[in-house]
Amino acid sequence: MLDKKGLEKFNQDHLIEFEKLMSTNEKEQLANKVDSLNLSDIQDLYEDLYVNKKVIDDVSSINEVKYDVKNDFSEEEIKKYEEIGLDAIQKGKFAVLLMAGGQGTRLGYKGPKGSFEIEGVSLFEIQAQQLISLKEQTGVAVDWYIMTSKVNDKETQLFFEAKDYFGYDKSHVHFFKQENIVALSEEGKLVLDVDGNILETPNGNGGVFKSLKNSGYLDEMTDNGVEYIFLNNIDNVLVKVLDPLFAGYTFQKSMDITTKSIQPKEGESVGRLVTANQKDTVLEYSELDPEVANEFNNANIGIHTFKLLFINNVVDHALPYHLAIKKLKQLDDDFGVIEQPTLKFELFYFDIFQYANSFITLQVPREEEFSPLKNKEGKDSVETATADLKRMNLI
Ligand code: UTP
Repeated sequence: MLDKKGLEKFNQDHLIEFEKLMSTNEKEQLANKVDSLNLSDIQDLYEDLYVNKKVIDDVSSINEVKYDVKNDFSEEEIKKYEEIGLDAIQKGKFAVLLMAGGQGTRLGYKGPKGSFEIEGVSLFEIQAQQLISLKEQTGVAVDWYIMTSKVNDKETQLFFEAKDYFGYDKSHVHFFKQENIVALSEEGKLVLDVDGNILETPNGNGGVFKSLKNSGYLDEMTDNGVEYIFLNNIDNVLVKVLDPLFAGYTFQKSMDITTKSIQPKEGESVGRLVTANQKDTVLEYSELDPEVANEFNNANIGIHTFKLLFINNVVDHALPYHLAIKKLKQLDDDFGVIEQPTLKFELFYFDIFQYANSFITLQVPREEEFSPLKNKEGKDSVETATADLKRMNLI
C-alpha cells in the first residue's frame, strides 16, 4: 500500500488514484518502486530545472576556447599527425566508446537508433565499417565499447548478432548499459508507463563513464594499456570514428580532453563550446541567450578523446542533471495510453569537463564531418543525412 501522507508531502498523492485501479500484484510493485525513490530529490530537480529555469545571458566570464583549424594544417602537418595516430592505434593506445543509449524520440523510429538504415546501411554499420578499415590499415582491432540503455540493450545486441557484427571481430565489441531515472509530468508528478510501472527514462549520456566503470570496462581498458578513449554519438552519419589525424593530434597534444568542433551557423541550435573559469565547457543552446550563442566560433558535435588517467581520476565525481522535455508514451488518469510532453532528466557527459585541467579543440569542416540524424523530416533528417552520405560517396 502507498503511504498517502508521505506522497502528499511531495505532491505525488495522485498515485493513490492510480493504485485504486490496480491488481494486488501491481499495487505491491508500485509501492516497492515508490519506496525506492527519493521523492525529496525528485522534487528538488523539478523545482531547480523546470520551475526556476535559468538562461545564461552574461558573457563576461565566458571566452572562446583554444582551438586549431584543420583546414589551416599544411600537408606535412596532416601527414605527421596521421602517422602518429596510426602508430598509437597500432600500439593499442586507443579505445572507442559509442553512446547509443538514447531514445531517439524525435526520429520516432521503433528500434534502437543505430539500427536505423539509410539505403540499406544502418548507423551502426557506418561506424563498424570504419573500424574494419582501420584494422586493415593497422592490423589491430580496436576495442569498441557501446553504451546502451534498458530501452534498447537487448534489441541492440540482437541486431549485432543478426548482422554478424558487420564482419568486425565479435570479441572486440563490448556492450554495457546506462542507468535510468524517473520522468515527470509538467506538473512535477510521477507518471506511469504503458505497462503501469513508474515511467523511467535513460539518465542521459553523462552516465557513460560511471556505467563504463561499473561494467568493469574502465579497468579492462587500463589493464590493456589504453591511454585515450575516443567518444562519439550514434547519430552523426558523417562521423569519422577514430580517424588517424584526430588520434595523432590527441596523442601529440596530450591533453585531458581533446575535442572536435565545427563553426556554428548564426542561430544554430547546437551547444557552444566555450571556456569559463579556465575550463572548457559546453553550453546547451537552450540554456543560452541566442545573442550570446552567436558570439562563439565552436559548436560541439559530440566527438572527443579523453585521457584515460583523467577519467579514472574523476569518474566518481558528481555531475548535475539537465532538463529535456520530450513526448513520451504514458497512461492517463483513466489508464488510457497517451503521448505528451514529459520532463526528462539527463546527465551530460561534457559536465565532466569541469574536472579537467587541459583542453584543446580541433575545428573540422562541417561538410565533411557533421550531419546528425535527429528528425523524421526537415532539418537534420533522413533526407539531409542521405544526401550528405551520398555527397561524401559513403553510400
Ligand atoms: P540526443 O541528445 O540526440 O538524444 O543524443 P536521443 O535520445 O538520441 O534523441 P531524442 O532527443 O530523444 O530525439 C545524443 C547522443 O547521446 C546518446 C544518444 O544515443 C546519442 O548518441 N544518449 C542520449 C545516450 O547514450 N543516453 C541517453 O540517455 C541520451
